[in-house]
Amino acid sequence: MLRYISILIPIFLLFVSCENDMTNEGGTDTNSDNNTMAIVSTFGNNIDLDDLENYSSQEIPNYINQDNTRGNSITDAGATLGRVLFYDKNLSSDNSISCSSCHKQEIAFGDDVRASMGVNGETGRHSMRLVNARFAEEEQFFWDERAANLEEQTTMPIQDHAEMGFSGTNGDPDFNDLIQKLEAIDYYQDLFTFVYGDANITEQRMQNALAQFIRSIQSFDSKFDAGRSMANNDGQPFSNFTAEENAGKNLFLAPPIVNNQGIRVDGGAGCGGCHRPPEFAIDPQSRNNGFVGVLNNPGETDFTITRSPTLRDLFHTNGTANGQFMHSAVGTDIMLVINHYNALPPGSDNNNLDNRLRPNGNLQRLQLTDEEKNSLVAFLHTLSGNNVYTDTKWSDPF
Ligand code: HEC
Ligand code: HEC
Repeated sequence: MLRYISILIPIFLLFVSCENDMTNEGGTDTNSDNNTMAIVSTFGNNIDLDDLENYSSQEIPNYINQDNTRGNSITDAGATLGRVLFYDKNLSSDNSISCSSCHKQEIAFGDDVRASMGVNGETGRHSMRLVNARFAEEEQFFWDERAANLEEQTTMPIQDHAEMGFSGTNGDPDFNDLIQKLEAIDYYQDLFTFVYGDANITEQRMQNALAQFIRSIQSFDSKFDAGRSMANNDGQPFSNFTAEENAGKNLFLAPPIVNNQGIRVDGGAGCGGCHRPPEFAIDPQSRNNGFVGVLNNPGETDFTITRSPTLRDLFHTNGTANGQFMHSAVGTDIMLVINHYNALPPGSDNNNLDNRLRPNGNLQRLQLTDEEKNSLVAFLHTLSGNNVYTDTKWSDPF
């Protein structure tokens, strides 16, 4: 009997010490409870500060190399605060609009209407999808790249008179009024203390948290990714693709070969030069693509558009478009887009048109056959994933 006990006691002690090792990992002991009354009563089970969602160490495919994170790396705590700010209507002057009003998870963080509604009217351009915003060489944001980086971008909609109304002009409250408003909210006192060590709210702290949340929104579970992970490069035929999808991929990647008049006689459609694979993020050198219309103002022109969101998740899992295409919301039929690039209309000519679309001085004529157009469309559909639309870590925590 004694013999059994002398064996069991060391086993028991070993078990206890392993348990301790596990709970000590990450620096929190078993008694720590960061979930204050305010956090629990506001977010219920949606946010657990002792068991944060994984934003910081998500799996990124080894072929993805572009990354515009600069000194503001994602942390689970920072992105959790960013998620709350993103979904909080308190960030608007009349408590009716949050970032998520115009950037809806179910359509890849874009909007399903042509112009989005803010606190004081409609936006002048179509909303942009926010998927894979991190994975790009381009650091500037907005269709016209007027934000120097994502951090700066994140508080611009708050200070826009039409969008969220803390502009400090037109009788609007200003950003300091917003900070005072947020500092009086109990869950922000707790969240800012949790992330930054004290309850002070500054514009920079808000920017960093919002940018971390947006950079965490990633989508790499598409058919393209399944094929790419089995291939050595983008160009090789993908074994999981149909013949049509592989043909579309070739057309997307290869530049056109043109004659003296700039008419395509061979080669591809040249899309990949500007929407660079495998991120499908915009080439920082890209100028505009000839869509020069202005939303809801048919008589006007806008030559300043030089950025596109990634072409990933243009379409929902069910095949429908995630909202209208282009800054001017030209429609949800992708053939409109293909036909535009196939033969740039005379009205698209302007002094900021990308030279790649004006070969030998003429507006681009690709002369794509119907079969080629269809294969390009089939390929674009392979760039859509599934998880981004439903993953709760990017969902409304309120
Ligand atoms: C009223 C609608 C509306 C609201 C509210 C709104 N946005 Fe936007 N968002 C837009 C529109 C429209 C654009 C494109 C505007 C442009 O380029 O001129 C845009 C563009 C962006 C972009 C640029 C994406 C890119 O790839 O360049 C980011 C990032 C973004 N919004 C984040 C946010 C954040 C963060 C908030 C909340 C603080 C927010 N938005 C609130 C409508 C909105
Ligand atoms: C010279 C660079 C360039 C080339 C080449 C190019 N694009 Fe674009 N693309 C852009 C720019 C810039 C935008 C944003 C334009 C806008 O909103 O008006 C854009 C926007 C788009 C959009 C809309 C994205 C959105 O979120 O609404 C699609 C789809 C698209 N391009 C597909 C293609 C395809 C397919 C090809 C090849 C046939 C192609 N592009 C060739 C620069 C280019």
